Amino acid sequence: MQLTAEEISVLHRTFLDYRSTEDFIRNPLVLKRAEGLYYWDTEGKRYFDAIGGVFVATLGHGHPRVLSAMREQMGLMTFAPPLHGIADVTLKFVEKLGSVCPGNLKYVKPFSGGSEAVESALKFARQYFKQTGHPGKYKFISRYSSYHGGTFGGMSASGTGERKAKFEPQMPGFLKVFSPSFYRDDFGSWEEANRFAARSVEDIIVAEDPSTVAAVIVEPIGNTGGVITPTAEYFLMLRDICTRRNVLLIFDEIITGIAKTGNMFAAQTYGVTPDILCLGKGISNGAVPLAAMVAREDLASSFRGEQTDANFFAHGHTFAGNPLASAVGIAVLDEIVENKFCQKAARLGEYLRRRLERLKQIEVVREVRGKGIFLGVELVRDTKTMAPFPELGTALKRTALRNGLILRIDPSWFAVAPPLIAEESDLDEMCDLIEGSLQEALREVRG
Ligand SMILES: Cc1ncc(COP(=O)(O)O)c(C=O)c1O
Repeated sequence: MQLTAEEISVLHRTFLDYRSTEDFIRNPLVLKRAEGLYYWDTEGKRYFDAIGGVFVATLGHGHPRVLSAMREQMGLMTFAPPLHGIADVTLKFVEKLGSVCPGNLKYVKPFSGGSEAVESALKFARQYFKQTGHPGKYKFISRYSSYHGGTFGGMSASGTGERKAKFEPQMPGFLKVFSPSFYRDDFGSWEEANRFAARSVEDIIVAEDPSTVAAVIVEPIGNTGGVITPTAEYFLMLRDICTRRNVLLIFDEIITGIAKTGNMFAAQTYGVTPDILCLGKGISNGAVPLAAMVAREDLASSFRGEQTDANFFAHGHTFAGNPLASAVGIAVLDEIVENKFCQKAARLGEYLRRRLERLKQIEVVREVRGKGIFLGVELVRDTKTMAPFPELGTALKRTALRNGLILRIDPSWFAVAPPLIAEESDLDEMCDLIEGSLQEALREVRG
C-alpha cells in the first residue's frame, strides 16, 4: 500500500511496537476495518488474518455475540471503581473463568493486558511466600528466548535479548535457563533434550538454594523462541521439581490460553496444572483489553482474613475488572463452550498441520511445531545444513502483505493461529496464500 505524506508525517510522531518507523514505512499496513477472518486496509485491500490480530481474535473480528454483550453492558455501566466497588458482571466473569480453568485454579484477578497479568503473578508469588513463613523466597527462573511482557517484571522474566539489552540492568532476582530447543542438536532425541532442559531447572534451584527461589515461569509453547513445543514429560518433570522444592509453577498462557491448543488452556492439553496461570489476548477477542491471573485456591487462602497487611493482595490497576471487558470475557467463554470450539481447534489443527507439512516440499522448511491451531513453521537455508535463513523470513514479510496475508513472522520462523470460526476451506485459502508468498520470497532472495 502507498502511504500519504500526512500519514508518513504522523507515523514519525508515534512509536511502533518493537519496530523502527522507517522499516514500517517501507512495508506499511494501515488498517481500517475488520470482520471475521479478514482485515481491510485504508485502500480497501483485503488481508486474510492468519494470526487473529496477534493471537487475540479467537472468534474472528467483530463477533456478533461479543458486540451485542458490549452493547448491553454499555447501556448499564462501563466503569466500576476498583478500590471501593466491583461490578456484578465482573463477579460473573470471575466465576465463569474459574469454571473453565484446570484443577483448583479458581482465584481470579482480572486485568487489562498480559504484562499486567504476569507482573501480578510475580508479585503474588513473592507476597505469598513472605506471608507464609518463607520471606527469603524471591527469585524467579524463566527461559531464554521467552517473552513475558513489556513491563519491568515481565521484561526481566523474558529471555529475548534484543528486547531487553537496551534497558539493562534488569530487575535483580531473575534467573534464566535454556529451553529444550537449545539442546536439540546435542542429544539424539527431542525427548532427551527435553529431559535435560527440565533437569537443568532443578540444578539451578539447588545451586541457588531452594529457600531463595519463589517460582518458575514458562510459556507452555514459546512463541518468541520459534513456537517451541516441549514434550508433556518436560512439564510433568517441572511440576514434580517445583512441588518437591516448594517453588511455584507459573504458566504464562497469554498466547496458548483460550481454546488454541485443543483445550481451554495448554495446561489441560499437557495434563499439568500450574499453581498460577496468566491469560490475556484471546479472552478479549480484541474487542476491549482483558487479561487475568488465576491462582490455586489454597494459595489464595493465605490472602484472606481480617484487614491486615498480610490479608489482602497488595496490587491493583484502575481498569482491572472493567465491567465492559468482563461482559466481553463472558461472551467469549460462552461462545467457545457452547460451540465446542476447543474440540474444533484440535480438529482444525490436525488439518492445518497436514497442510503446513506440505510446505516441506519447498525444502526450506525444517519443522512444523505447535499444538491445535497455534502452529509455527521453522525456515532454514536447506534441510541438510539446517542453517538459519533470516533473509527469507524478511522477504516473506513483504510478499505476504503484498498477497493480502497477515502472519506473525520472525526472520527464522512464522506462526499462525487463525480464528476458530475458520473452516477447512478457509484454511486452504490461507495455506495457498502462505505457499505462494513463501515461493515468491524464495525467488526474491535467491534472485
Ligand atoms: C507469552 C506472553 N506473555 C505476556 C505478553 C504480554 O502481553 P501484553 O502485550 O498484553 O502486555 C505477551 C504478549 O505478546 C506474550 O506473548
